[in-house]
Amino acid sequence: MSAAALVLLSLLYQVQGSSNSERHTGLSNYTFPEDFIFGVATAAFQIEGGWNKGGKGENIWDTYLHKHPNFTLDHSNGDVAADSYHKYKEDITMIQSLGVKYYRLSISWTRLLPNGTDNYINEDGMKYYRHILEGLRKVGITPMVTLFHWDLPTPFMDLGGWTNPVMVNYFEDYARVAFNLYGDIVNIWTTMNEPHQHCANGYGFVNFVPALNAHGIGEYLCTHYMLLAHAKVYHLYDRYFRPSQNGKIGITLDSFAGEPKNASNPNDHVAVENYLQMHLGLYANPIFSSSGDYPRYVRDTIDHMSQIQGFTRSRLPFFTEQEIVMLKGSSDFFGLNHYTTYKITNCERNENWQIPSMDHDNGICMSQPSNWPKPGASWLAVHPPGFRKIINWIKKNYGDVPIIVTENGLCDDGSLEDFERVSYFNEYLYQLLLAVNIDKCNVRGYFAWTLMDDFEWGDGYVTKFGLYHVDFDSPHRTRTPKLSAINYGQIVRTRQIDFDFIKPESTKYQSNKI
Ligand code: BGC
Repeated sequence: MSAAALVLLSLLYQVQGSSNSERHTGLSNYTFPEDFIFGVATAAFQIEGGWNKGGKGENIWDTYLHKHPNFTLDHSNGDVAADSYHKYKEDITMIQSLGVKYYRLSISWTRLLPNGTDNYINEDGMKYYRHILEGLRKVGITPMVTLFHWDLPTPFMDLGGWTNPVMVNYFEDYARVAFNLYGDIVNIWTTMNEPHQHCANGYGFVNFVPALNAHGIGEYLCTHYMLLAHAKVYHLYDRYFRPSQNGKIGITLDSFAGEPKNASNPNDHVAVENYLQMHLGLYANPIFSSSGDYPRYVRDTIDHMSQIQGFTRSRLPFFTEQEIVMLKGSSDFFGLNHYTTYKITNCERNENWQIPSMDHDNGICMSQPSNWPKPGASWLAVHPPGFRKIINWIKKNYGDVPIIVTENGLCDDGSLEDFERVSYFNEYLYQLLLAVNIDKCNVRGYFAWTLMDDFEWGDGYVTKFGLYHVDFDSPHRTRTPKLSAINYGQIVRTRQIDFDFIKPESTKYQSNKI
């Protein structure tokens, strides 16, 4: 096919792809290469439970939820969760059944270091992760370990959490312990999971713990020191551990995709770009861009807003020249978590915003069309073309950096015949194939979120993201594969998407029926 025809085809696709009504049938025309990484992801606080078992110390989610049971929809907490503290062997068997060769898990900081600091290492915690990691290796599964998936040791919160620069050193100390203990069997690390969600929702607003509501200042301080802590740990690994352990280390950032609310309004296109710079560029630019530092738009906007609000200094801290250099290039891959898309438009800044705040600084409004399906949560509408767009945005802004999708998935009410999740994975994975094959984006791997139903932060156990169902009413936390687990396993094994999998008349569906 000629290059011109390819361009035409890709333009045509973009027009078609912008609609949600597109339906695919049969087998996908593209396949996943043999070296494409398929995995499944979890996070310690969401599955482990055992909150005070084996000498574990308290983290901010333990402490906050015990004090504020009303924080979660069902007034639940993570004390038992899916009980992976006891059931990790079964979890490994489930991962094996999916056929994936990679498992992304996080270490609970206070299970390893109960006080957060490295002056005391908890033996039980040390063994717990050793057993899991060895168990995975024994059956040929490569672990990818996240050091921080939001469960900050409580003693650090008393010091201001990530708003305190000392966290950079304490995070480095924790990482050093982890690299020393597990670097012989772990060779893919991610330092932080979604600093944006953690800082914006936990420090800026009250949607996540620590629920500080320090909007306008807290989220930027948190961002600043999390980024510096990430870079410190990258260099720690690079300098002292990589030579003997030979692994990779990166960061996981999250981003919704954005589309102009009114495609023919140029201002809405600018609004999409501003939204992405504020929510993703703020974290990605210092690490992945060739210029380094915060994005120009973000820097100028927050400086300007701070000034007109009467602040003597910008609410967004400044990096030193040395820090800009330390951050630049400090990730071996771009870990991307993506779930959904929003329509974006400019908004008049008004009294209804929290002032100051990241939202008010950004000055945009977000919405999702009512015909985009939302089977589980008010924020998560299904719009597969957004996935391809956000992958392309990363390529456009940061070049050919290898992208690993470290999370992508859908929540629903938890039924075993989860047709919507099957279709979500099929359609989103297809968009990934288009990004790779047509747009030549450098996506190397994909981790489905998540292995099993778990503690979904503020939603408690109400919304379900699992490939495996967990019976939270049973003390055994019985696990059962959903249809989506079987479908995902089939994609992993055949390296192809079967869009007919969920058609009731299809033999594959009949033979896999639950
Ligand atoms: C987080 C997960 C969470 C998922 C679905 C991501 O932001 O990393 O911990 O469960 O989204 O809400």
